[in-house]
Amino acid sequence: MLSRSSHSRIIYYSRSVLDSDIEQRKEQIANLIRTSRRQNEFSLMTSILVLDKGWFTQMLEGDRDALNQTFNRIVQDSRHKEVRIVEWREVPRRELLPSLELIDREGGFNDILDRYNLEEAYTRGTPKAGWLREFIIELQSSLLAQRGIEVLT
Ligand SMILES: Cc1cc2nc3c(=O)[nH]c(=O)nc-3n(C[C@H](O)[C@H](O)[C@H](O)COP(=O)(O)O)c2cc1C
Repeated sequence: MLSRSSHSRIIYYSRSVLDSDIEQRKEQIANLIRTSRRQNEFSLMTSILVLDKGWFTQMLEGDRDALNQTFNRIVQDSRHKEVRIVEWREVPRRELLPSLELIDREGGFNDILDRYNLEEAYTRGTPKAGWLREFIIELQSSLLAQRGIEVLT
């Protein structure tokens, strides 16, 4: 068949500009997840979003055009700033399953978050795309294992 893949992947990080009040922040995050998930389900995007120590990190995959549109909205969002793209490329296939899952320290991923220590990596400079991709894939495996799902690749 003469079909060419047009799947793309973006990995970026940014600084969160969420409320300092914990209750307000929780509500902002819940809103953010609700809208993003709905949008991603509609445009068949898959994604993992990490929020740790004031930094967002997201890996987002999908159809090239849908990804462009989604990312154009994301960069303009005032809930974060200093968006830095680490990778934006075409990929042969998807690696993520969820439309959007938020990973933070409340979810029991501290061992992985501590091991990767994003805060240190981001303050030192732009980390390698492969390193961030592995981090996200490891989080996804851990997330799915929590839910009793084993992914064979
Ligand atoms: C860190 C971060 C990650 C986001 N991730 C997504 C996402 O994966 N998909 C999405 O549609 N919107 C995402 N958004 C929200 C968009 O910026 C935007 O608010 C949303 O898509 C609704 O856009 P609209 O109000 O123009 O309809 C994210 C926002 C932030 C701050």
